[in-house]
Amino acid sequence: MGEDDVILKFENVTKRFPGVLALDNVSFAIRKGEVHALVGENGAGKSTLIKIVTGVYQKTSGEVIFDGKPVHFLTPHEALRNGIAAIYQEFNLIPALTVAENIFMGHHFTRRNFIVDWGKMREEARKLMEFLDVDIDVDAQVRDLGVAKKQVVEIAKALSLNARVLIMDEPTATLAQKEIEGLFRIIRFLKGKGVTVIYISHRLEEIYEVCDRVTVLRDGRYVGTRNVKEIKVDEIIRMMVGREVVEKFPRVAHHAGEEVLRVENLTRHGVLENISFSVRKGEILGIAGMVGSGRTELLRAIYGLDPIDAGKIYVKGKEVHIHSPLEAINHGIALLPEERKTQGLVLLLSVLDNLGLPLLPSLSNRGFVDDKKLTAVAQDMVEHMNIKTPSLLQKTMYLSGGNQQKVVLGKWFARNCDIYLFDEPTRGIDVGAKIEIYHLMNKLIERGSTIVMVSSELPEILAMSDRILVMREGKVMGELTREEATKEAILQLALGRREEYARVE
Ligand SMILES: Nc1ncnc2c1ncn2[C@@H]1O[C@H](COP(=O)(O)OP(=O)(O)OP(=O)(O)O)[C@@H](O)[C@H]1O
Ligand SMILES: [Mg+2]
Repeated sequence: MGEDDVILKFENVTKRFPGVLALDNVSFAIRKGEVHALVGENGAGKSTLIKIVTGVYQKTSGEVIFDGKPVHFLTPHEALRNGIAAIYQEFNLIPALTVAENIFMGHHFTRRNFIVDWGKMREEARKLMEFLDVDIDVDAQVRDLGVAKKQVVEIAKALSLNARVLIMDEPTATLAQKEIEGLFRIIRFLKGKGVTVIYISHRLEEIYEVCDRVTVLRDGRYVGTRNVKEIKVDEIIRMMVGREVVEKFPRVAHHAGEEVLRVENLTRHGVLENISFSVRKGEILGIAGMVGSGRTELLRAIYGLDPIDAGKIYVKGKEVHIHSPLEAINHGIALLPEERKTQGLVLLLSVLDNLGLPLLPSLSNRGFVDDKKLTAVAQDMVEHMNIKTPSLLQKTMYLSGGNQQKVVLGKWFARNCDIYLFDEPTRGIDVGAKIEIYHLMNKLIERGSTIVMVSSELPEILAMSDRILVMREGKVMGELTREEATKEAILQLALGRREEYARVE
């Protein structure tokens, strides 16, 4: 590879946090105009590497060479001004401002007397939307936009600053299928215009759709870079994990017992319509459907987070009226929410305290907590789920995204409930840890619990569920037994059309 082809080069980049060597002598190069995937297990160092490029973190040692020159950006703003933009899961947009204002925030057009030229700003914003071929009203407030459109606004903002390198850290985690296709279209388009894209994702199949090359990190170290066309997914996984991963879905046979949860004609106007189903002890009920089909809303309604307009819920044969999560918990129901960072964790508390929170009532004796027991249970969880943390006392805010999710999951697994409602349990979780989570689900079932699992990962829902409910537009379109369920059958119900098959492998 000639030096001329290279836009960004890492030379022995090392980053040390207290107690953690997040990056250890990482060296590789990104070519001009390519889409370069960056993959690795949770805590491998992907986000840290990106944050070093964009000036969020400062490296401990090594060099980042951009366009032939060593760079040391002190802030993301400085990186952006120099042509490197990053889009994270948490958007850097201001909800109360319009699309145009957000795009040009910090680099307004001004007239001679320094008055902001709103007309020009809106016109330029409109041009960018046209350029990206998306239909977004530049006068709309950003708070009124869905995730996908917010992402496009971030991309437009980067382009307005002439970004030459665009970095995306797990951009598809919360997008619907159609929106993912839209994002891929934009990525290909940008590539055609010579923009270099660095793409981080745990969904390896996506890499085959948009990326040219893939670099694997493991435990903060560089493992290798390959042409996507020349590497099979199993090999990428082997590079990530450092060993063969065989048991993909360790499902055990379940013995269903008596009915534990029954929902009859549940309705929430405009959101859920006449939903009925029943689940038995020792069963996993999968709920499939596109993002926006009402799956999350169904779980929220059962858990008492959203009021219902009609319908009945029975727990163990008795009708219940659940108006709050506390009441749900008292009926033995737990919900693992989709938005874990905001709904599931206390970021300022340690791993130990977070894992221990739901256990406190059972581990305290007349107000005194049995610290030893608490530590033992927490340690067990950390080992089981392979949570990467320097110690149990580390604040969860310092863990990588995926490891934070594992802590939230651990919290719920540690607790004894009859009914677990899981919303996208493995989102953002790496391959190896996913398998651990499936093992833990099996354990819950063996223990006599019931699981209702919403998932967008078809292979996961097919492999783990005893029965599958398929939703579309707030309605149940059908219920499939394990034997009947195939990805085609699910997609046909979920989409109502054959031709629009989702990304499924
Ligand atoms: N601010 C911080 N302070 C201390 N440790 C940190 C900090 N940020 C990251 N780490 C640690 O550095 C390591 C790498 O984290 P990083 O966020 O880069 O992982 P990642 O590859 O992005 O993982 P994920 O797939 O889970 O997002 C992890 O062990 C993490 O706990
Ligand atoms: Mg990350």
